[in-house]
Amino acid sequence: MHKNLVDASPWILRFADAVPDKGTVLDLACGGGRHGRFFLARGQKVLFLDRDIAALSDLAETPSAELIEADLETDAGWPLADRLFEAVIVTNYLWRPILPQIVSAIAPGGLLLYETFALGNEAFGRPRNPNFLLKAGELLEAVSGQLEVLGYEHLQLDTPSPRVIQHIAARRPS
Ligand SMILES: C[S@@+](CC[C@H](N)C(=O)[O-])C[C@H]1O[C@@H](n2cnc3c(N)ncnc32)[C@H](O)[C@@H]1O
Repeated sequence: MHKNLVDASPWILRFADAVPDKGTVLDLACGGGRHGRFFLARGQKVLFLDRDIAALSDLAETPSAELIEADLETDAGWPLADRLFEAVIVTNYLWRPILPQIVSAIAPGGLLLYETFALGNEAFGRPRNPNFLLKAGELLEAVSGQLEVLGYEHLQLDTPSPRVIQHIAARRPS
């Protein structure tokens, strides 16, 4: 099996086919870019953004990969101006002040795929700080009145290790 497929979150893979195949996917706070790399391998343009893009150096010459090194948590605010994306993918990252900008960055017909740790995870390990744990219904509230919810869960998963997560897949009407 391809490494990107092994590394990817099952939640992101589950909704991957619903992502419009034109336009650009944004992998936000992407780390090594496991999800952006998956969409890149499917022939999609991908913008990878992280405060440290050292792990993406192998993509520097890939025409369909755009790399942006930016800190999302400064007073400078959202670094992508009014750009719109066919999908915005956020996994294992939370900075509440930019949730409105993340939702606004979804193009008509585009998807938000978001999955990160949630309240309840503090019983199992890091993150334990409530600043980094989604509250019950928080992602539903973030998209309310703007995106149509395709799927949402707040649950404990036990494999490969116990954790509590929340995830959402939601689409902006065309
Ligand atoms: C736990 S990793 C998740 C990486 C990736 N999304 C994944 O699931 O594989 C969190 C990522 O958020 C990035 N990050 C943390 N604070 C950030 C900030 N202020 N601005 C941009 N990226 C940040 C880190 O550099 C790291 O790559």
